[in-house]
Amino acid sequence: MAYETILYAVDGAIATITINRPKVLNALNPQVVAELGQAFAAVAADDEIKVVILTGAGDKSFVAGADIAAMSVMNPVEARNFSRQLQEVTTLMENLPKPIIAAVNGFALGGGTEISLACDFIYASDTAKFGQPEINLGVIPGAGGTQRLSRLVGKNWAKELCLTGDIIDVALAKEIGLVNRVFPAEELMPAAIKTAKKIAAKGRVSTRACKDLINFGFDIPLDHALRLEAESFGMCFASPDQKEGMSAFLEKRKAEFKGSK
Ligand code: HXC
Repeated sequence: MAYETILYAVDGAIATITINRPKVLNALNPQVVAELGQAFAAVAADDEIKVVILTGAGDKSFVAGADIAAMSVMNPVEARNFSRQLQEVTTLMENLPKPIIAAVNGFALGGGTEISLACDFIYASDTAKFGQPEINLGVIPGAGGTQRLSRLVGKNWAKELCLTGDIIDVALAKEIGLVNRVFPAEELMPAAIKTAKKIAAKGRVSTRACKDLINFGFDIPLDHALRLEAESFGMCFASPDQKEGMSAFLEKRKAEFKGSK
C-alpha cells in the first residue's frame, strides 16, 4: 500500500506508523485519517505484527490537531462526517486485537490528544504537550476528547482541559494519569520499541484478551465484566502458549511463546 501522509514500517513483530506532515506539525486532514484507517486495517490483517507504535514525524510535534485550514471551509455536514471519520478510526484502533503504544514526541493537541487516547497507553518525550484547544476555535473536541479523556483522567480534569483549552506540559499530563511514562526525547522511541518487543514476546491469545477485557469491561457492570473475564481466562487454556507458560514455570526455564492463535 502506498501512503502519502503517513509512514508505515514493519520490523519483525513491531509496526511503526508515523504521521508525516511535519510542515503543518502533522495536522490531521481527511487523507491522513483515511490512510491511518488503511494502515490499522493492514496491521489487523498481518499475522506477523503483534504490536504497533504510533508517532509523529519530526522533533516538534506528534499531531497538532485536526487541520484547521481544511476544517475552516467545511459545512456542518462535512464537519460531522469528518468527526465520524476520526471517531471510526479511533474506534478501530481501540478495537484492534493488537496493542498500540503512542510515542508522543511533541505537541499532541486536539485531535492529537484524542488519537493518543485511542492507543493502549502513552509514552511521551519530556518536550510533549497535551491539550484540547478546540474551544479556542469556537468548537469542541470531535474525536472522542469529551468521552475518552474523561474516562481516563476523570470528568473534572477533562472539563478543565476542554473548557479552558489550556496546553499542559508533560509533568501535569503524567500527574493526571494521561501519560504512563516520560523520557528524554532521544530515548522515547527506543523505550517504546523495548516495551513493544516485551509485549510481542507474550502469548497472542492472552495479549488480545487483556486488551479486550480492560477496554470492553470498563463500561459495563462489574459482575458482567467479571463473567467475561472468567470466560476469557478459560479460553487462554485452549492456547498452546498456556501450556508453554505453565510448563516453563514448573521446569524453571524461560517461556518461549509461539504466539499461537
Ligand atoms: C493546520 C497547523 C496546525 C493545525 C499547526 N499548523 N497546527 N495547520 N492545522 N492544527 C501549521 C501552522 O499554521 C504553521 O504553518 C506550521 O504548522 C507551524 O506552526 P506554528 O504555529 O508556526 O508553530 P508554533 O508557533 O511553534 O506553534 C505551535 C502550536 C500552534 C502551538 C502547536 O501551531 C497551534 O496552536 N496549532 C493549532 C493547535 C490546535 O488548535 N489544535 C486543535 C485543532 S482542532 P505555516 O504555513 O504558517 O508555517 C481539532 C479538532 C479535532 O483538533 C476533531 C476533529 C473532528
